[in-house]
Amino acid sequence: MTNPEITPLYEDVTFHGPLSEERAARLIRMLAPLDGAHVLDLGCGWAEFLLRLLEAAPTATATGVDLNKVDIAHGQANAQARGLADRIDLQVADVGAWQAGKPADVVIVNGASQVWGGDPLVHTENALTEAKKLLKPGGKLLLGEGFWEREPSDEQLAAMPVPRDQYRSLAGLVDFALAHGYRLLAAEQASQDEWDVFENSHGLAWERWLLGNPDSPHAAEIRAKADRQRTYRLHGWRGTVGLAYLILQA
Ligand SMILES: C[S@@+](CC[C@H](N)C(=O)[O-])C[C@H]1O[C@@H](n2cnc3c(N)ncnc32)[C@H](O)[C@@H]1O
Repeated sequence: MTNPEITPLYEDVTFHGPLSEERAARLIRMLAPLDGAHVLDLGCGWAEFLLRLLEAAPTATATGVDLNKVDIAHGQANAQARGLADRIDLQVADVGAWQAGKPADVVIVNGASQVWGGDPLVHTENALTEAKKLLKPGGKLLLGEGFWEREPSDEQLAAMPVPRDQYRSLAGLVDFALAHGYRLLAAEQASQDEWDVFENSHGLAWERWLLGNPDSPHAAEIRAKADRQRTYRLHGWRGTVGLAYLILQA
C-alpha cells in the first residue's frame, strides 16, 4: 500500500508554526546586526524564516538542518529561485547526531526543542544547553518554545498528549533561560490568530484529501488523524499552550 499523498503543509502556510509574516520580520530585525553573521536553524522545516533572514541581511550565511527530506528539498528549491543558494546550506540530518562545522552568531530553535530527542520534560533544557555549545560567546538564540499561557484543567490535560510538567509559565520559561546563563533581549508570544491559521492548515489538508479520496484504503486512518488533532486542539491546547518567542543572548 502506498502512503496517502497529503498536500505538504508549505502549500497552506508560510511557516511551520504559529508565526505571522509581520512577527517574522520583526524577529529578524531584533536579531540585528547580522552583517557577516552565520546563522544556524535546527529543525528548520522548509527554512522560510532563514531565507527571509538572508534576504534582510545580504552578507549573512546560514545552515539549516531538518529530518524531513521533502521540506528540505522545498527550501533548497526556494533558495535557488530567490538567488540565495550560495549563502545557505540545507541538510537532511538528525540534529541529535549532527556536528556543526563552525560556531554560530545566531542559533534558531523554533518549535523544535524536540530535535535532541529524549523525554519531553527535558526538551527545553536540551535546547538551552545545546544551543549555547553552538554559539559564539555573546551570540543570540531565537527560541520558539511552548509555555502554559493558562493553567490547563484536568480535562484539558487529559485531552492532549502534553504532560503538565513539560512547560512552564512565560516568566518561568524566561527564568529557566536566565538560569542557563542567557540574558533576555526580547520576549513575545504567538497570538490566537497565528495559532488558528497554523492549526487550520493541518485540518484543511486532511479534510481536502478525504473529500477527494473517499474510497481510499487510507481514508479511515486519515479521518482518525484529523479527529485526533481536532480533539487535541479544541479540548486541549487551544488557549492553554502558548508559543513564546524569546531572543536570548549567550
Ligand atoms: C514544528 S516544526 C518547526 C519548523 C521550523 N522551525 C519552523 O518554525 O518553520 C519542527 C521541525 O523539527 C523537525 N525535527 C523533528 N525532530 C528532528 C530531529 N531529530 N532532527 C532534525 N529535525 C527534526 C521536524 O521535521 C519539523 O520540521
